[in-house]
Amino acid sequence: MQLTDDERAMADGRDGPAVQRAMDLLQRYGRALGAERLVATNNIVASVSATTPFMRDFARRKGGMDAVFSEFSLDSADVVTIPKIRAFTTHTQLGFVPDEPERMGVDEATVQFYRQGEAFITGLGVQATNTCTPYQVGNLPTRGEHCAWMESSAVIYCNSVLGARTNTEGRESVGAAMLTGRIPYWGYHLDANRRGTHHVVLETTVESTSDWGLLGYWIGDQVQERVPVVEGVKCIPNLARLKHFGAAASSSGGVEMAHLVGITPEAPNLEAAFGGNRPIETLRFGAAEHRATWEKINATGKDTQVDYVMLGCPHYTMEQLWEAARLIEGRKVNADCELWIFTARAIKSIADQNGTTKILEDAGAHLMTDSCSAMSRAVPKGTRVAAFDSAKQAHYLPAILGLQAWYGGVDECIDAACTGRWQGRFA
Ligand code: F3S
Repeated sequence: MQLTDDERAMADGRDGPAVQRAMDLLQRYGRALGAERLVATNNIVASVSATTPFMRDFARRKGGMDAVFSEFSLDSADVVTIPKIRAFTTHTQLGFVPDEPERMGVDEATVQFYRQGEAFITGLGVQATNTCTPYQVGNLPTRGEHCAWMESSAVIYCNSVLGARTNTEGRESVGAAMLTGRIPYWGYHLDANRRGTHHVVLETTVESTSDWGLLGYWIGDQVQERVPVVEGVKCIPNLARLKHFGAAASSSGGVEMAHLVGITPEAPNLEAAFGGNRPIETLRFGAAEHRATWEKINATGKDTQVDYVMLGCPHYTMEQLWEAARLIEGRKVNADCELWIFTARAIKSIADQNGTTKILEDAGAHLMTDSCSAMSRAVPKGTRVAAFDSAKQAHYLPAILGLQAWYGGVDECIDAACTGRWQGRFA
């Protein structure tokens, strides 16, 4: 792999052993991927927190948080002292909500260990945003900017909505990128890999957030890891609809880049989106596909009595919290049901300040940050049937926790929370 003089100096130890280990990791990783060089990045979304009992034991045996970072983020058997990070880094979601240990079923020792780790990484310079939606809370890269992001729903948003460039990175590669400001130059960093491969023609109206989730879910299923080009968007989607679309497409398939013609910065028209590629296939999303996807995603839903409603996957926007508050104000969550809503810390602080949190909590909902049910594997005790406005959550939770899932709009979910019954219908 070709290295610049600065990269060679880092690899030779100029900036200390941790940076040297990071360069070693990036070179091994890049060679495995066939990358010819690295690319500079100053935008990382990383998970480098320490939350598991295994890591806690490891830290105790091997010498604290430097040891945890060396082993789990640098793939280094030797414990090296971790210096301040070189590239701007925000933290992605956690495996539980540290402020809600009881609800999450997490013991105090685990929370204390997390807090110790949080102090360590923030001391290095990491921003503890703890969200899967970094673009909502200050990490908003510009078109063409090279990034190194974890979290599939954020990656597709970064590539497809913002026009910035990232692959779906892992804990080790972002750990190394934070210390060096470099990431292998391959995959979606390269123009050639960003061009469309499949032509998707919309033949039915896709408007609501629920519709966008269904469209994403159908596309992911059809194209898997390729690059769809979606033509025929008539109702311009807002932030929430785009994030639900991307989260769904990266759940049913592994879509990391999609072109929405007229919306994606690199897709002002069909020709630009394909960039000279001949589409492998033309797919049509009409009324029949729309309904079939709704039926597929609701396939596990059998009992209409709902024990749990979860909103906030990906983490809710300010607008979605406001909408949920408007829908539930003056009502109460049913005694036999729970409503949990997840958002980013920074957004909750606004909701706390403007009274949104109070409206939700007065109705009996719980507004939480930093994680979600799928990530924390936490749902209210005894949950058998759950309802979601997120295709991603409806996709994963039946598989992870064996529960029945209903999928619908936020209005249907709030109704289910307040009545304890699922009455959603395909609209
Ligand atoms: Fe975020 Fe959890 Fe969904 S981390 S994208 S809310 S699965």
